[in-house]
Amino acid sequence: MSTTPDHVTVLGLGNLGRALAETFLRHGHPTTVWNRDAAKADALVAAGATVAPSAAEAIAAGDLVIVALLDSTVARQVLATAAAAVAGRSLVNVTSGGPEDARALAAWAAEHGAQYLHGAVYAVPQTIGTTESSISYSGSETVHQRSQSRLDLLGKGTFLGADAGLASSYDVAILAGMYGMIGGFLHATAMAATAGVRATELTPMLLSWLADAFPALSTFASEIDSGDYTDGESSLAMNQAGLATIIRASQELGVPAGTLLPIKDLIDRQIADGHGAASLARAVESFRNDA
Ligand SMILES: NC(=O)c1ccc[n+]([C@@H]2O[C@H](COP(=O)([O-])OP(=O)(O)OC[C@H]3O[C@@H](n4cnc5c(N)ncnc54)[C@H](OP(=O)(O)O)[C@@H]3O)[C@@H](O)[C@H]2O)c1
Repeated sequence: MSTTPDHVTVLGLGNLGRALAETFLRHGHPTTVWNRDAAKADALVAAGATVAPSAAEAIAAGDLVIVALLDSTVARQVLATAAAAVAGRSLVNVTSGGPEDARALAAWAAEHGAQYLHGAVYAVPQTIGTTESSISYSGSETVHQRSQSRLDLLGKGTFLGADAGLASSYDVAILAGMYGMIGGFLHATAMAATAGVRATELTPMLLSWLADAFPALSTFASEIDSGDYTDGESSLAMNQAGLATIIRASQELGVPAGTLLPIKDLIDRQIADGHGAASLARAVESFRNDA
């Protein structure tokens, strides 16, 4: 089937896929959609989309195929049903997954004559198509360049490199950082609650302190990259003592300190190796020792 150069296909009309398709339609791009539950296409069809009866027929309609499915297993399953249709297509997969999932799909795409670009979405469906949305891409630079005008409609795009897994490598690392912070936040609110302090009372002060503390991460990052941990302004020994106090206080308040114990372990192991005067950033070496 011939396609027009501005045609887009979206596979998967969950919360994200619908927002992506709506954005393309809003900007006048002919858009073909497919979803397992076809009823989710109704509003898009009313807005001008064409619904395809199968993933293969949807892929045949658009040179640029956006994949927004539940997880990489589902993405593989759905694409496998359309393997004969993907040759010559640009697959842009924004389904969350690990780096190896993205590399495996890129290899699958290459075997079937398609080009593959992976996208990590930093947005919620409501912000897709606004300046609050950003998407990091890696994989085929050709696809990124050829499709950039359409992809940029979704949010600020950044191309990271040719390794299809790179965008996911960044993504899972960034999300690990985020969940660590959320774990700390939840722990903090549980501790404050034992004194009758509401989460909404604590949070402005916590945010203020975090804003003051965030610049230290850039200093730590330079230390980690250089391997020079000799600036012990925030030393492992000092942090070990501080953390021990917080853990003991938490336990005395009846709040389990489970979010803090792994951090203490990383620090303790470096101190046991004789690095108590080194920067807190040296605790990252405990991960490396485990590798
Ligand atoms: N939503 C966000 O804010 C956001 C942000 C960044 C990244 N992401 C990632 O984007 C992807 C999609 O997210 P979402 O929010 O759109 O998820 P969602 O609302 O749960 O939608 C899941 C999609 O996967 C389809 N699906 C599930 N199981 C399937 C199967 N066995 N066969 C065929 N289709 C199947 C669903 O089809 P049915 O409608 O038929 O069930 C639906 O289209 C996820 O990997 C998510 O992590 C989401």
